[in-house]
Amino acid sequence: MKPLDTPQIETLIGRMTLTEKLGQLTMMAASHTVTGPTITGHSTGDIRSGRIGNLLNLIGAGPAREMQRIAVEESRLGVPLLIGLDVIHGHRTLFPAPLAEVALFDPEAWARTAREAAREAAADGINMTFAPMLDVSREPRWGRTVEGPGESPWVGRHLAEAKVRGFQGADLAAADSVAAVAKHYCAYGAVTAGREYASVDVSDRTLREIHEPAFEAAIGAGVVAVMPAFTDLAGIPMTAHAGMLRGRLRRELGFEGVLVSDYNAIAELIQHGVAADLIEAATLALKAGVDIDMVSGAYLQGLPVALERGLVSQSEIDESVYRVLALKARLGLFEDPYRRGATAENVTAVTERRRLSREVAARSMVLLSNRDEALPLFGGLRRLALIGPLADAPGEMRGPWWCAAQPEEQISVLAGMRAALPRSQIFHASGVDIGGDDESGIGAALQLCDNAEAVVLCLGEAATMSGEAASRAHPGLPGRQRRLAEAVLQRAADRTIPVIAVLFCGRPLIVPWLAERASALLVAWFPGCEAGHALADILTGSTSPSGRTPITWPRAVGQIPLYFAERSSGRPGPGPFSSRYIDESSSPLFPFGHGLTYGRCSMSDLRVTPQAADASTTVEVRVDVENQGARKAEETVFLFTRRLKSRVAPPVLELHGVGKIILEPGARDTLVMHLPVAELRSLGPDLEPGLEPGAVDILVGPSADRASLLSARLEVLAKQPS
Ligand code: NOJ
Repeated sequence: MKPLDTPQIETLIGRMTLTEKLGQLTMMAASHTVTGPTITGHSTGDIRSGRIGNLLNLIGAGPAREMQRIAVEESRLGVPLLIGLDVIHGHRTLFPAPLAEVALFDPEAWARTAREAAREAAADGINMTFAPMLDVSREPRWGRTVEGPGESPWVGRHLAEAKVRGFQGADLAAADSVAAVAKHYCAYGAVTAGREYASVDVSDRTLREIHEPAFEAAIGAGVVAVMPAFTDLAGIPMTAHAGMLRGRLRRELGFEGVLVSDYNAIAELIQHGVAADLIEAATLALKAGVDIDMVSGAYLQGLPVALERGLVSQSEIDESVYRVLALKARLGLFEDPYRRGATAENVTAVTERRRLSREVAARSMVLLSNRDEALPLFGGLRRLALIGPLADAPGEMRGPWWCAAQPEEQISVLAGMRAALPRSQIFHASGVDIGGDDESGIGAALQLCDNAEAVVLCLGEAATMSGEAASRAHPGLPGRQRRLAEAVLQRAADRTIPVIAVLFCGRPLIVPWLAERASALLVAWFPGCEAGHALADILTGSTSPSGRTPITWPRAVGQIPLYFAERSSGRPGPGPFSSRYIDESSSPLFPFGHGLTYGRCSMSDLRVTPQAADASTTVEVRVDVENQGARKAEETVFLFTRRLKSRVAPPVLELHGVGKIILEPGARDTLVMHLPVAELRSLGPDLEPGLEPGAVDILVGPSADRASLLSARLEVLAKQPS
């Protein structure tokens, strides 16, 4: 069959009963993995009868094909299914968790992992992924921080573009492309006090400046679906927010694709307190523009009554059905519903994908400190103690979304280090569990230190401690890990051997005491299936670390939210009556962008040309970078700006570019970055974008630490009349 065109879709809708239409607006969970309240009561019979037109959480090419077959060959109208899954950072082959991958600051790598994940998922019959997650987060307490771009809307925009390109490919109908779902619109990352699902109340300015840009970029990149957030925005749940969904997203931002609700979110409008029953909930969601009801059953149960009562119209239902069918047509499902999942992937593709995962994982790790160059481990190391609950925890390496990835397919740190150092003795003890109160294993762990030349201490969170429903009021090391670490640090200090602390986590952890005492501190995040190999690459020095933290690390929970782009106050300080704490420093433990390499790079001679320019010009920013260290390094250079005066108080730093340069020991080179002056536009008091003439500081350096930035002045000119 050829792809359906508009009249054919309209004809198909004309042939549908109300139940068949509502089936197209319904997505039900298969029982393979369930990520929310369990919803039961559906069966393949419902697909046959047309009551269910879409599925999620179905894993395996065989089951996917069978469900498609029932829909296409046994239902009256033969409409194929959307089959969706949270393919977030890989499907069978896991890449590092999203926040980890963001630490690469490399859009091409972001697109490549999405492309590979799409290929692997499509080979399992999946045609829709609930990704990318684009929620900017300045909130380490919020567990879902791990799924998104970190704190910067600029990063969010670039991540959105790369991920949509990667998942959807050049041709959405291709057998290896899947529909991307940009989520969660909007401002989910601003939940009150970082508590999952809690209320959101941000200004229109914050919404537009911080939370929306990534969604705009996703729309620009052609994303075909968007998921509204579970949360409310100033009292109106996003699932029922007609102003934001129909008004802002569709009319103003031009989104024409499908809106898929979050899991059970339509029924949850009742708990939000804005609907009395499923009839009202379904009415609110449909009126707001939500096309697909994910699992709540509100559309199936509520819309027939709502229609009868005149609360919704037939044309409102048809409009949503149209969008769903048009997406199915664009995915090529009418042409060939079995295209995805038709051929099993060959072994080379899978091996190559694991190689990519290892490379990306190693590049995602951020070396936060490295006292006396404790890393890399010295070449002739004979005895290494590998201590901590994450040292031999392959399943935990997967991070928050693991789809079809099996724990035994993940490489633990222990396995990776044994493979990398076959001639060294590697002693292992976990000491304590990740959580829990049992300290009885600490003694045995300490004994290992007595016989070792170095200690690698693997600490952090379990995979399930970040992600959905995993907010933490105390985002430090859980359980008795601090006790273990302090004991090991003490024993190692007595024996003058280095302790390399490695953190596995989905958020910045509040560990100033560890940063102060460990010889080196490395954050490995959740590295995915090649975790142990990738970590060994970094620890042994076969790869020089190049990751940079995409989110500020606070020293204390009381500093949260802490981020580089805050606005200057009228009393920035220093001094007693300035914006500060009386009991804690205002500075972060590690600033945004921080990360060391095994080289020693420094920057000098910042040049901006031209020094005065209008909106039609792209300014060239050049900086010399020199590696004075003894090892090759990839240095990351951030380009920030600061508008000196504006009608609306500007942030102290705004990110506008990231450059990378690889330098051999002793080498010096010039990095050139381009800054289109038009990108310095900001929202005026009326929220309209505009470019204000005036002085702008161009600040370039290795992180958002102000003291590390070189500065040059650019004069932005009013546009010359042509
Ligand atoms: C709930 C999550 O909020 C969302 O991100 C996910 O896509 C759905 N569950 C489906 O699993």
